[in-house]
Amino acid sequence: MVANNKTKVRARITAKDASKILNEVGNAPIFKEETTRKNLPFFTKDELLIGDILGVGSSGVVKEIKNIENHSKKSIDDTKELMSRNCLRHGNCRYAMKYLRNGDNLSEREIARGRIDFAVEVKYLKALTHPSIIKLRGLGGKDLLHPNFFFLMDRLQCTLEERIQEWKTSSEKTKESRGGLFRKSSVRKNNILLRKKLEVAYDVASACEYLHSHKLIHRDIKPENVGFDIRDDVKIFDFGLAKSLHPDLHARNGLYNLTVITGSLPYMAPEVAKKQPYNEKCDVFSYAMMFWEMMVMKELFPYFKTRHEIYQKVILGGLRPRIPLRAWPSTVDTMISKAWKPSSKNRPTMNQICNTLRTALKNEFDEADNRNKLLRNRSSQSLECLIAQEIEL
Ligand SMILES: Nc1ncnc2c1ncn2[C@@H]1O[C@H](COP(=O)(O)OP(=O)(O)O)[C@@H](O)[C@H]1O
Ligand SMILES: [Mg+2]
Repeated sequence: MVANNKTKVRARITAKDASKILNEVGNAPIFKEETTRKNLPFFTKDELLIGDILGVGSSGVVKEIKNIENHSKKSIDDTKELMSRNCLRHGNCRYAMKYLRNGDNLSEREIARGRIDFAVEVKYLKALTHPSIIKLRGLGGKDLLHPNFFFLMDRLQCTLEERIQEWKTSSEKTKESRGGLFRKSSVRKNNILLRKKLEVAYDVASACEYLHSHKLIHRDIKPENVGFDIRDDVKIFDFGLAKSLHPDLHARNGLYNLTVITGSLPYMAPEVAKKQPYNEKCDVFSYAMMFWEMMVMKELFPYFKTRHEIYQKVILGGLRPRIPLRAWPSTVDTMISKAWKPSSKNRPTMNQICNTLRTALKNEFDEADNRNKLLRNRSSQSLECLIAQEIEL
Protein backbone atom coordinates (compact mmCIF):
# COMPACT_ATOMS: atom_id res chain seq x y z
CA MET A 1 0.00 0.00 0.00
CA VAL A 2 2.74 2.43 1.04
CA ALA A 3 4.82 1.53 -2.01
CA ASN A 4 1.81 2.20 -4.27
CA ASN A 5 1.31 5.65 -2.82
CA LYS A 6 4.99 6.46 -3.29
CA THR A 7 4.82 5.35 -6.92
CA LYS A 8 1.77 7.56 -7.52
CA VAL A 9 3.50 10.62 -6.04
CA ARG A 10 6.57 10.06 -8.22
CA ALA A 11 4.46 9.56 -11.34
CA ARG A 12 2.49 12.79 -10.61
CA ILE A 13 5.70 14.80 -10.25
CA THR A 14 7.15 13.50 -13.48
CA ALA A 15 3.94 14.14 -15.45
CA LYS A 16 4.19 17.80 -14.40
CA ASP A 17 7.90 17.84 -15.23
CA ALA A 18 7.16 16.36 -18.64
CA SER A 19 4.76 19.06 -19.81
CA LYS A 20 7.01 21.81 -18.43
CA ILE A 21 10.08 20.40 -20.20
CA LEU A 22 8.22 19.90 -23.49
CA ASN A 23 6.82 23.44 -23.40
CA GLU A 24 10.29 24.79 -22.76
CA VAL A 25 11.64 22.82 -25.73
CA GLY A 26 8.84 24.22 -27.91
CA ASN A 27 10.05 27.76 -27.10
CA ALA A 28 13.59 27.10 -28.33
CA PRO A 29 14.69 29.63 -31.01
CA ILE A 30 15.11 26.85 -33.59
CA PHE A 31 11.30 26.38 -33.68
CA LYS A 32 10.88 29.97 -34.88
CA GLU A 33 12.55 28.97 -38.13
CA GLU A 34 10.81 27.72 -41.24
CA THR A 35 12.75 24.47 -41.17
CA THR A 36 10.41 22.73 -38.66
CA ARG A 37 8.62 19.96 -40.54
CA LYS A 38 4.89 19.98 -39.91
CA ASN A 39 3.75 17.37 -42.45
CA LEU A 40 5.58 14.33 -41.24
CA PRO A 41 3.61 11.15 -42.02
CA PHE A 42 2.06 9.09 -39.21
CA PHE A 43 2.47 5.32 -39.08
CA THR A 44 0.77 2.55 -37.15
CA LYS A 45 2.72 -0.52 -36.11
CA ASP A 46 0.60 -2.82 -38.30
CA GLU A 47 1.75 -0.91 -41.39
CA LEU A 48 5.36 -1.81 -40.66
CA LEU A 49 7.24 -5.04 -41.22
CA ILE A 50 9.78 -4.76 -38.43
CA GLY A 51 13.13 -6.51 -38.81
CA ASP A 52 16.23 -7.07 -36.71
CA ILE A 53 17.48 -5.01 -33.78
CA LEU A 54 20.10 -2.54 -34.98
CA GLY A 55 21.08 -1.24 -31.58
CA VAL A 56 20.05 -0.79 -27.97
CA GLY A 57 21.00 2.36 -26.07
CA SER A 58 20.53 3.47 -22.50
CA SER A 59 16.82 4.06 -23.11
CA GLY A 60 15.97 3.30 -26.74
CA VAL A 61 15.78 0.30 -29.06
CA VAL A 62 16.35 0.72 -32.80
CA LYS A 63 15.08 -1.84 -35.34
CA GLU A 64 15.16 -1.96 -39.11
CA ILE A 65 12.03 -1.56 -41.22
CA LYS A 66 11.79 -4.27 -43.87
CA ASN A 67 8.57 -3.11 -45.48
CA ILE A 68 5.90 -0.41 -45.21
CA GLU A 69 2.27 -1.01 -46.17
CA ASN A 70 0.48 2.27 -46.53
CA HIS A 71 -3.04 1.83 -45.04
CA SER A 72 -3.79 5.53 -45.26
CA LYS A 73 -6.25 6.85 -47.85
CA LYS A 74 -5.45 10.56 -47.48
CA SER A 75 -3.66 12.37 -50.30
CA ILE A 76 -1.53 14.25 -47.73
CA ASP A 77 0.26 10.95 -47.24
CA ASP A 78 2.10 11.05 -50.57
CA THR A 79 5.35 10.93 -48.62
CA LYS A 80 4.13 7.77 -46.94
CA GLU A 81 3.35 6.23 -50.31
CA LEU A 82 6.80 7.19 -51.55
CA MET A 83 8.43 5.72 -48.46
CA SER A 84 6.50 2.49 -48.81
CA ARG A 85 7.61 2.17 -52.48
CA ASN A 86 11.25 2.96 -51.69
CA CYS A 87 11.63 1.10 -48.45
CA LEU A 88 14.53 -0.95 -49.81
CA ARG A 89 17.57 0.34 -51.68
CA HIS A 90 19.50 -2.35 -53.56
CA GLY A 91 18.06 -4.85 -51.08
CA ASN A 92 19.08 -2.79 -48.02
CA CYS A 93 16.52 -1.36 -45.60
CA ARG A 94 16.34 2.41 -45.87
CA TYR A 95 14.54 3.20 -42.63
CA ALA A 96 14.82 2.37 -38.95
CA MET A 97 12.40 2.80 -36.05
CA LYS A 98 13.23 3.82 -32.53
CA TYR A 99 11.08 3.15 -29.49
CA LEU A 100 11.59 3.19 -25.77
CA ARG A 101 13.06 0.15 -24.07
CA ASN A 102 10.46 -1.49 -21.88
CA GLY A 103 11.69 -0.90 -18.42
CA ASP A 104 11.85 -4.34 -16.80
CA ASN A 105 14.78 -3.29 -14.64
CA LEU A 106 14.01 0.40 -14.57
CA SER A 107 12.42 2.37 -11.75
CA GLU A 108 9.20 4.35 -12.30
CA ARG A 109 11.23 7.55 -12.25
CA GLU A 110 13.72 6.24 -14.85
CA ILE A 111 10.87 5.20 -17.15
CA ALA A 112 9.27 8.65 -16.91
CA ARG A 113 12.65 10.34 -17.48
CA GLY A 114 13.26 8.12 -20.53
CA ARG A 115 9.84 9.06 -21.94
CA ILE A 116 10.59 12.77 -21.58
CA ASP A 117 14.02 12.45 -23.21
CA PHE A 118 12.41 10.52 -26.05
CA ALA A 119 9.77 13.22 -26.62
CA VAL A 120 12.47 15.92 -26.48
CA GLU A 121 14.51 14.01 -29.07
CA VAL A 122 11.58 13.90 -31.52
CA LYS A 123 10.76 17.58 -31.00
CA TYR A 124 14.31 18.63 -31.83
CA LEU A 125 14.66 16.19 -34.73
CA LYS A 126 11.58 17.79 -36.32
CA ALA A 127 13.40 21.11 -36.48
CA LEU A 128 16.95 20.05 -37.33
CA THR A 129 18.11 20.17 -40.94
CA HIS A 130 21.77 19.52 -41.58
CA PRO A 131 23.56 17.04 -43.90
CA SER A 132 25.37 15.46 -40.93
CA ILE A 133 22.33 15.12 -38.64
CA ILE A 134 20.02 12.08 -38.82
CA LYS A 135 16.76 12.77 -40.64
CA LEU A 136 13.39 12.13 -39.01
CA ARG A 137 11.00 10.39 -41.48
CA GLY A 138 7.79 9.60 -39.64
CA LEU A 139 5.92 9.45 -36.34
CA GLY A 140 4.10 6.65 -34.58
CA GLY A 141 1.27 8.85 -33.21
CA LYS A 142 0.57 12.37 -32.02
CA ASP A 143 1.24 11.95 -28.30
CA LEU A 144 5.01 12.04 -27.96
CA LEU A 145 4.75 10.95 -24.32
CA HIS A 146 2.61 7.87 -25.03
CA PRO A 147 4.33 4.65 -23.82
CA ASN A 148 3.97 3.07 -27.31
CA PHE A 149 5.23 6.07 -29.25
CA PHE A 150 7.92 5.40 -31.87
CA PHE A 151 9.51 7.28 -34.74
CA LEU A 152 11.06 6.46 -38.11
CA MET A 153 14.40 7.78 -39.33
CA ASP A 154 17.02 6.92 -41.93
CA ARG A 155 18.79 3.68 -41.25
CA LEU A 156 22.50 3.86 -40.53
CA GLN A 157 24.94 1.12 -41.53
CA CYS A 158 27.26 1.34 -38.53
CA THR A 159 28.30 3.61 -35.68
CA LEU A 160 31.63 5.43 -35.34
CA GLU A 161 32.41 3.09 -32.44
CA GLU A 162 32.18 0.12 -34.83
CA ARG A 163 34.02 1.98 -37.59
CA ILE A 164 36.95 2.69 -35.26
CA GLN A 165 37.27 -1.08 -34.68
CA GLU A 166 37.26 -1.68 -38.47
CA TRP A 167 39.95 0.97 -38.95
CA LYS A 168 42.00 -0.56 -36.15
CA THR A 169 41.87 -4.06 -37.68
CA SER A 170 42.78 -2.79 -41.13
CA SER A 171 45.69 -0.66 -39.89
CA GLU A 172 47.03 -3.60 -37.85
CA LYS A 173 46.98 -5.69 -41.05
CA THR A 174 48.78 -2.89 -42.90
CA LYS A 175 51.41 -2.74 -40.14
CA GLU A 176 52.00 -6.52 -40.33
CA SER A 177 52.58 -6.39 -44.07
CA ARG A 178 54.98 -3.44 -43.77
CA GLY A 179 58.54 -3.45 -45.14
CA GLY A 180 60.24 -3.89 -48.53
CA LEU A 181 57.85 -3.80 -51.41
CA PHE A 182 54.85 -2.95 -49.23
CA ARG A 183 56.30 0.16 -47.63
CA LYS A 184 55.06 2.71 -50.11
CA SER A 185 51.60 1.20 -50.16
CA SER A 186 51.32 1.18 -46.35
CA VAL A 187 52.26 4.88 -46.17
CA ARG A 188 49.62 5.57 -48.80
CA LYS A 189 47.02 3.54 -46.86
CA ASN A 190 47.84 5.42 -43.65
CA ASN A 191 47.42 8.72 -45.47
CA ILE A 192 44.07 7.67 -46.88
CA LEU A 193 42.93 6.67 -43.39
CA LEU A 194 44.16 9.94 -41.85
CA ARG A 195 42.26 11.90 -44.48
CA LYS A 196 39.09 9.87 -43.92
CA LYS A 197 39.29 10.41 -40.15
CA LEU A 198 39.83 14.14 -40.51
CA GLU A 199 36.86 14.31 -42.89
CA VAL A 200 34.65 12.46 -40.40
CA ALA A 201 35.89 14.79 -37.65
CA TYR A 202 35.07 17.79 -39.83
CA ASP A 203 31.52 16.54 -40.52
CA VAL A 204 30.79 15.98 -36.81
CA ALA A 205 32.22 19.43 -35.97
CA SER A 206 30.12 21.02 -38.69
CA ALA A 207 26.92 19.38 -37.30
CA CYS A 208 27.82 20.66 -33.80
CA GLU A 209 28.56 24.12 -35.18
CA TYR A 210 25.06 24.13 -36.71
CA LEU A 211 23.52 23.13 -33.36
CA HIS A 212 25.51 25.76 -31.46
CA SER A 213 24.62 28.48 -33.96
CA HIS A 214 20.96 27.68 -33.09
CA LYS A 215 21.70 27.86 -29.36
CA LEU A 216 21.35 24.11 -28.97
CA ILE A 217 23.74 21.71 -27.29
CA HIS A 218 23.82 17.95 -27.89
CA ARG A 219 25.33 16.96 -24.51
CA ASP A 220 26.09 13.37 -25.50
CA ILE A 221 28.72 13.54 -28.25
CA LYS A 222 30.56 10.18 -28.37
CA PRO A 223 31.37 7.49 -30.97
CA GLU A 224 28.20 5.50 -30.11
CA ASN A 225 26.06 8.47 -31.16
CA VAL A 226 27.70 9.08 -34.54
CA GLY A 227 26.95 6.84 -37.51
CA PHE A 228 27.39 6.30 -41.24
CA ASP A 229 24.56 5.92 -43.74
CA ILE A 230 24.47 3.83 -46.93
CA ARG A 231 26.47 6.48 -48.80
CA ASP A 232 28.97 6.49 -45.94
CA ASP A 233 27.90 10.03 -45.00
CA VAL A 234 28.35 10.92 -41.33
CA LYS A 235 25.23 11.49 -39.21
CA ILE A 236 24.99 12.43 -35.56
CA PHE A 237 21.95 11.08 -33.73
CA ASP A 238 20.50 10.51 -30.23
CA PHE A 239 19.17 13.94 -29.31
CA GLY A 240 17.50 12.80 -26.09
CA LEU A 241 19.83 14.94 -24.00
CA ALA A 242 19.84 17.97 -26.31
CA LYS A 243 19.15 21.30 -24.65
CA SER A 244 18.29 24.79 -25.80
CA LEU A 245 20.31 27.63 -24.23
CA HIS A 246 17.30 29.72 -23.33
CA PRO A 247 18.01 33.34 -22.17
CA ASP A 248 16.06 32.64 -18.93
CA LEU A 249 18.74 30.13 -17.96
CA HIS A 250 21.54 32.63 -18.45
CA ALA A 251 23.87 32.78 -15.42
CA ARG A 252 26.97 34.90 -16.11
CA ASN A 253 29.99 35.12 -18.46
CA GLY A 254 28.09 33.34 -21.22
CA LEU A 255 27.33 30.35 -18.97
CA TYR A 256 23.91 28.89 -18.25
CA ASN A 257 22.25 27.33 -15.21
CA LEU A 258 21.96 23.83 -16.57
CA THR A 259 23.14 22.09 -13.47
CA VAL A 260 21.94 18.66 -14.56
CA ILE A 261 24.64 16.02 -14.81
CA THR A 262 24.10 14.51 -18.20
CA GLY A 263 26.19 12.65 -20.79
CA SER A 264 28.67 9.83 -20.47
CA LEU A 265 31.96 9.63 -18.63
CA PRO A 266 34.74 10.00 -19.81
CA TYR A 267 33.34 12.33 -22.49
CA MET A 268 31.66 14.55 -19.89
CA ALA A 269 33.09 18.05 -19.48
CA PRO A 270 34.36 18.82 -15.94
CA GLU A 271 31.90 21.69 -15.41
CA VAL A 272 28.97 19.35 -16.23
CA ALA A 273 30.23 16.60 -13.92
CA LYS A 274 30.82 19.17 -11.17
CA LYS A 275 27.25 20.54 -11.51
CA GLN A 276 28.53 24.04 -12.37
CA PRO A 277 26.86 26.36 -14.90
CA TYR A 278 27.93 25.44 -18.44
CA ASN A 279 27.35 26.25 -22.10
CA GLU A 280 27.89 24.78 -25.59
CA LYS A 281 31.61 24.32 -24.84
CA CYS A 282 30.70 21.08 -23.03
CA ASP A 283 30.19 19.56 -26.52
CA VAL A 284 33.68 20.80 -27.46
CA PHE A 285 35.18 18.82 -24.57
CA SER A 286 33.28 15.64 -25.52
CA TYR A 287 34.26 16.17 -29.15
CA ALA A 288 37.97 16.36 -28.21
CA MET A 289 37.78 13.06 -26.31
CA MET A 290 35.92 11.45 -29.21
CA PHE A 291 38.46 12.89 -31.67
CA TRP A 292 41.37 11.32 -29.75
CA GLU A 293 39.62 7.94 -29.63
CA MET A 294 38.99 8.07 -33.36
CA MET A 295 42.54 9.10 -34.30
CA VAL A 296 44.40 6.79 -31.91
CA MET A 297 41.86 3.92 -32.19
CA LYS A 298 42.24 3.06 -28.51
CA GLU A 299 39.85 3.13 -25.57
CA LEU A 300 39.99 6.21 -23.35
CA PHE A 301 41.50 5.44 -19.91
CA PRO A 302 41.13 1.60 -20.05
CA TYR A 303 43.03 1.34 -16.74
CA PHE A 304 40.30 3.14 -14.75
CA LYS A 305 37.69 0.64 -13.67
CA THR A 306 35.18 2.88 -11.87
CA ARG A 307 33.38 6.19 -12.50
CA HIS A 308 34.90 7.40 -9.23
CA GLU A 309 38.44 6.92 -10.59
CA ILE A 310 37.61 8.85 -13.78
CA TYR A 311 36.03 11.60 -11.71
CA GLN A 312 39.10 11.89 -9.47
CA LYS A 313 41.77 11.67 -12.15
CA VAL A 314 40.16 13.22 -15.25
CA ILE A 315 37.54 15.63 -13.95
CA LEU A 316 39.30 16.81 -10.80
CA GLY A 317 42.92 15.91 -11.60
CA GLY A 318 42.94 17.20 -15.22
CA LEU A 319 44.41 13.98 -16.67
CA ARG A 320 44.08 13.77 -20.48
CA PRO A 321 45.00 11.11 -23.07
CA ARG A 322 48.48 11.44 -24.60
CA ILE A 323 48.59 12.87 -28.12
CA PRO A 324 51.03 10.78 -30.19
CA LEU A 325 54.02 12.65 -31.65
CA ARG A 326 53.64 13.94 -35.22
CA ALA A 327 50.66 11.67 -35.89
CA TRP A 328 48.38 14.49 -37.07
CA PRO A 329 48.93 17.97 -38.51
CA SER A 330 50.42 20.18 -35.75
CA THR A 331 47.55 22.71 -35.93
CA VAL A 332 45.16 19.86 -35.09
CA ASP A 333 47.34 18.82 -32.10
CA THR A 334 47.15 22.34 -30.71
CA MET A 335 43.41 22.56 -31.30
CA ILE A 336 42.66 19.27 -29.48
CA SER A 337 44.85 20.11 -26.49
CA LYS A 338 42.87 23.34 -26.15
CA ALA A 339 39.49 21.67 -26.74
CA TRP A 340 39.76 19.55 -23.58
CA LYS A 341 41.04 22.35 -21.32
CA PRO A 342 39.46 22.22 -17.83
CA SER A 343 38.09 25.75 -18.19
CA SER A 344 35.47 26.04 -20.93
CA LYS A 345 36.46 29.61 -21.83
CA ASN A 346 39.89 28.38 -22.97
CA ARG A 347 38.38 25.89 -25.43
CA PRO A 348 37.91 26.80 -29.11
CA THR A 349 34.42 27.17 -30.60
CA MET A 350 33.09 24.54 -32.98
CA ASN A 351 33.44 27.14 -35.71
CA GLN A 352 37.18 27.46 -34.99
CA ILE A 353 37.49 23.67 -34.95
CA CYS A 354 35.82 23.48 -38.39
CA ASN A 355 38.22 26.12 -39.76
CA THR A 356 41.30 24.36 -38.38
CA LEU A 357 40.21 21.01 -39.83
CA ARG A 358 39.26 22.53 -43.19
CA THR A 359 42.68 24.19 -43.49
CA ALA A 360 44.52 21.04 -42.33
CA LEU A 361 42.66 18.92 -44.89
CA LYS A 362 43.42 21.43 -47.62
CA ASN A 363 47.11 21.79 -46.75
CA GLU A 364 47.79 18.12 -46.13
CA PHE A 365 45.83 16.54 -48.91
CA ASP A 366 44.75 18.97 -51.62
CA GLU A 367 48.35 19.99 -52.13
CA ALA A 368 49.42 16.35 -52.24
CA ASP A 369 46.62 15.74 -54.79
CA ASN A 370 47.79 18.70 -56.82
CA ARG A 371 51.38 17.46 -56.68
CA ASN A 372 50.25 14.03 -57.90
CA LYS A 373 48.18 15.62 -60.66
CA LEU A 374 51.19 17.70 -61.70
CA LEU A 375 53.39 14.61 -61.84
CA ARG A 376 50.73 12.74 -63.83
CA ASN A 377 50.44 15.68 -66.23
CA ARG A 378 54.20 15.85 -66.59
CA SER A 379 54.52 12.17 -67.37
CA SER A 380 51.63 12.27 -69.83
CA GLN A 381 53.17 15.40 -71.41
CA SER A 382 56.46 13.65 -71.87
CA LEU A 383 54.61 10.68 -73.36
CA GLU A 384 52.82 13.05 -75.74
CA CYS A 385 56.19 14.62 -76.63
CA LEU A 386 57.64 11.19 -77.33
CA ILE A 387 54.70 10.28 -79.52
CA ALA A 388 55.02 13.61 -81.34
CA GLN A 389 58.74 13.03 -81.83
CA GLU A 390 58.07 9.52 -83.14
CA ILE A 391 55.58 10.89 -85.64
CA GLU A 392 58.12 13.47 -86.77
CA LEU A 393 60.68 10.76 -87.17
N1 LIG B 1 19.20 5.33 -37.53
C1 LIG B 1 19.82 4.26 -37.03
N2 LIG B 1 20.14 3.22 -37.84
C2 LIG B 1 20.79 2.15 -37.34
N3 LIG B 1 21.12 1.98 -36.05
C3 LIG B 1 20.81 2.97 -35.20
C4 LIG B 1 20.16 4.16 -35.64
N4 LIG B 1 19.96 4.97 -34.57
C5 LIG B 1 20.49 4.32 -33.51
N5 LIG B 1 21.00 3.12 -33.88
C6 LIG B 1 21.66 2.13 -32.99
O1 LIG B 1 20.91 2.02 -31.80
C7 LIG B 1 21.69 2.41 -30.66
C8 LIG B 1 20.80 3.15 -29.68
O2 LIG B 1 20.26 4.31 -30.28
P1 LIG B 1 20.29 5.71 -29.54
O3 LIG B 1 19.51 6.67 -30.35
O4 LIG B 1 21.70 6.10 -29.27
O5 LIG B 1 19.51 5.34 -28.19
P2 LIG B 1 19.73 5.82 -26.67
O6 LIG B 1 19.03 7.13 -26.60
O7 LIG B 1 19.07 4.78 -25.85
O8 LIG B 1 21.21 5.90 -26.45
C9 LIG B 1 22.84 3.24 -31.23
O9 LIG B 1 23.99 3.24 -30.44
C10 LIG B 1 23.07 2.57 -32.57
O10 LIG B 1 23.85 1.40 -32.40
MG1 LIG C 1 22.87 6.62 -27.63
